[in-house]
This record gives sequence, structure tokens and C-alpha cells, in this order.
Amino acid sequence: MKNILFVASECVPFIKTGGLADVVGSLPKCFDKTKYDVRVILPKYMCMDEKWKSQLEYVNHFYMDLCWRRQYVGILKLEYEGVTFYFIDNEYYFSGPTPYSDMRYDLEKFAFFSRAALSALPVIGYKPDIVHCHDWQTGLIPVYLKDSFSQGEFYRNMKSIMTIHNLKFQGVWDVQTIKDIAGLSDYYFTSDKLKDYDNGNYLKGGIVYADLVTTVSDTYADEIKTPFYGEGLDGLMRARSNCLSGIVNGIDYDEYNPETDQYIFKNYNASNFRKEKIKNKIALQKELGLEQDSKKMMIGLVSRLTDQKGLDLIAYIMDELCQDAIQFVVLGTGEERYENMFRHFDWKYGKDVSANIYYSEAMSHKIYASCDAFLMPSLFEPCGLSQLMSLRYGTIPIVRETGGLKDTVEAYNEYENKGTGFSFANYNAHEMLDTIRYAEKIYYDKKRDWNKIVERAMAADFSWDVSAKKYQELYDNLLG
Ligand code: ADP
Ligand code: GLC
Repeated sequence: MKNILFVASECVPFIKTGGLADVVGSLPKCFDKTKYDVRVILPKYMCMDEKWKSQLEYVNHFYMDLCWRRQYVGILKLEYEGVTFYFIDNEYYFSGPTPYSDMRYDLEKFAFFSRAALSALPVIGYKPDIVHCHDWQTGLIPVYLKDSFSQGEFYRNMKSIMTIHNLKFQGVWDVQTIKDIAGLSDYYFTSDKLKDYDNGNYLKGGIVYADLVTTVSDTYADEIKTPFYGEGLDGLMRARSNCLSGIVNGIDYDEYNPETDQYIFKNYNASNFRKEKIKNKIALQKELGLEQDSKKMMIGLVSRLTDQKGLDLIAYIMDELCQDAIQFVVLGTGEERYENMFRHFDWKYGKDVSANIYYSEAMSHKIYASCDAFLMPSLFEPCGLSQLMSLRYGTIPIVRETGGLKDTVEAYNEYENKGTGFSFANYNAHEMLDTIRYAEKIYYDKKRDWNKIVERAMAADFSWDVSAKKYQELYDNLLG
């Protein structure tokens, strides 16, 4: 039996701000349980739903020294869908209204969390062969394993893997502050280790010290070796390219299943979608106060509203797009200028545009099920899960060819009758608009071909089966 410990800052169903939570919540269930004992450590955020907090079971507690501070570390536990989840409790760090707040404070919070997660292991009595770390919040773990923890017999030979879900976020602050809050000596603050110009950088530490580095698609694994996508770490990514691989994400096929989904108005499947899927569109038009026209092509967008997602391209052509026979439904929160941009178009084109500036699991499922197409013109996209959810619901993705979008959406080819979506290469608003209009043309003028695309989209398999096996191979190779 191989013991694999996931450490992460968010995880479905307990706490979620983005795709990281979906991955950490759904992947551990998919490993071969006869060979791998996979457990997960998360922070016990006060802002978690009471439904989950009330189920947590107290395991133990201890006090931990971190530099000049002495901190309480509580350990709680929950078995959920066959996986053991541990929660690190500390009210000073985890009582905010959201998992993340200002960066300086988060840096200290996740230094504490990373050290506490490792320190809790002997107390729990679980000794991982591999600690699998996710994103910058856990970037110090591979460093700690090579630093003070390597002294203890318990941790000796413990391996680590660093998975990059988004290279944009690295956890960066001036060296002096990082040294102080992380409790690391001068030795670590040179440019081949945690130092990045004049700053300390958590993710860089993770990438330098982890035994293996992975990211969430093949294309993104290549892209981050270039300056455009490398976020200042492309040199390091090239240097570590022997240890770097891309494994594309999957999604939870039980949770995202149009045939059983409890959130949607009418369930459907690959054989009856022609008649049934449209009922969801009509119900959503009613619910959102859009013009009720079952024939009109409805385009959806469910997203964090940030630069990463290509929203400036949409802003640029939205007036033009709204002259077409389409409806546009947005669900998202994020930067104010994008929130207001969508509110503005909702005000201007009320019968065809609906801006829903909030977070709702239920509404996201309704949009995946109801729309005809799903727009995701990202500037960069390590993997992207929304397009996988759309494919699963037969909602045709229109994407820019970058990162995981390129690896998971096959462009429609009308001559060969192939493809599961529409795509464009350059970060250019009119290239995007032309692609949307090409999709409109197929939707309106070649409905049979469109339905074939839907069939292929729904038949594409982005469950975790294949990718979980790739992680297993990676674990096996690392442990020899
Ligand atoms: P990222 O992790 O960069 O935000 P992904 O496509 O990997 O992008 O994952 C986004 C996840 O967050 C998806 O599960 C998507 O449905 C969900 N999501 C984003 N915004 C919202 C929202 N406002 N309400 C509900 N779900 C949302
Ligand atoms: C990040 C990326 C997204 C990816 C997700 C899960 O948030 O932005 O592309 O799908 O992590 O790996």
C-alpha cells in the first residue's frame, strides 16, 4: 500500500473558489484503493458551511513553534465518499469570511498551514510516502521536508510532488518578511532557491525542492517554459523540464451528469438531448427574464471574472455580438470592472443578455445544461474545467487554443465531420467574434451537423479514469 497525502487550500464540497477545489475534491476518490491510501489535509475555515463543520470529529491537538510564535494546531477529521479528510484548526488564521484575504496575511496563514500539516502527521499516525502539494499555498512543504523536517526519522525519504494549477499566483513578498513568517534561514534565499529578484517566492520554493513537478495539461506544461506564459519562472521551468509533466484534469462524472443532475429543470442524455435539452433553455429564459425563444442560440459563461479569462475580448465585441440572433448568460464574480461591464450589457440588451454577478453552484449547472454554446476565450488556461462540464452537457465550447482548452476541445471540421467545439488561436477580439459567428452559422443553418457536434461532445470522456492512472504511474515511478 502506498500512502499519498494531498495538501491543499480548497476542496469540494467543503470550500471552493475555483477549479483547484474541484480537482482536490474529485481526484482522491479515483485512485485504486487496493494500492493507494490517499488522504487529504485542508484548513478548517470558519467560513465553511455549518453542514460540514458540524460533522467534523476531533482527533487531537498540539502546540507548534513557528519562529517566535507558538500556535495551537487542532486536528479534525471527516470520512467522506471513501476518502479521509483532515482539517487543521486554528482560529487566529482561519476565521476570515473567505479562505483568502490580503496577501501578506495569507502568506503567514499558509506558512502556518504547511508546517502544521507536516507536524500533524505523526500525531495522526499516518506516514505518507508522497506529499502531493497543490499551488503556492503549499509551496513551502517541499522546502520544509528538505529543511528541518529531514532531521526526523519519520520524515526521512518522504517524497513530494508540486502540482501547479496556476503559475500566475506564486505567493511573493519581500525576503525579510518571508524569512520571518516561514522560519527559514538565509541559506534558502538565493536566486537558485526561494529568492526571486528581491522577493521570497513560495511556489518557486516548491518547484525547486519537489521531487516532481506537474501541471494540469500538456500544453500548459510546454507553455510555461516560455516567457509569455512563464510568469517570470520560465527559466526555472526549463531547468526542471526533466521532472515536469502535464496531466490533464478530469471532472466528477457523477456530480456533473445531465441524466441525474438535481439542479437542472429537465434531465437528458446523449440519445434524447434533441428534444429534452431545450426544455432547460426555456426554463432558464423564464427564470432570468430573457425573451422566451427556444430557437435562439444561447451562449453561456461561468467564470471568475479576471483578466485570465479573456473578458477584455468580450467587452470589445459585445455590442457587435448583440446585433446577432443570440442570447448571452453570464455567471461570475471578480474584478469590478468586469462585473460592471456585464451589468451594463444586461441593462442595454435586457431581453437577450443576463448578468448574474454572484456565486451559485445551482445556477452554474443550469447554465451548463441550458446553453447551446459556452464561451471561454482565456488569455491563458492551465486546464479549465468549465469547458469539460460544458462538453458533458452537450453545450458546445468556443475557446481560445491555449493550455488545457487546446488539449480538451477538438475544433470542428465540417469537411471531415469531426470536432467537439470551436476554437481560435490569437488573442484577438475579432478572431473570437468570427469564430462565434461561424458557430452561429452551423447552429442556424446546419442543425444536423450541430447536433452531431453535440453527440461527439457528450461522448468525449473527461472523467478521471485516464488521468488518475497517470498520477498512479507517476507515484509508482517516484517510489521505484
Ligand atoms: P479556474 O479554476 O481558473 O477558476 P476552472 O474552469 O478550472 O477555472 O474552474 C472553475 C470552476 O468554478 C468551475 O467548477 C466553475 O463552474 C466554477 N465557477 C466559477 N465561477 C462560478 C460562479 N460564479 N458560480 C458557481 N460556480 C462558479
Ligand atoms: C486553476 C486554473 C484552471 C484549472 C484549475 C484546476 O484555477 O486556472 O485552468 O482548471 O486550476 O486545475
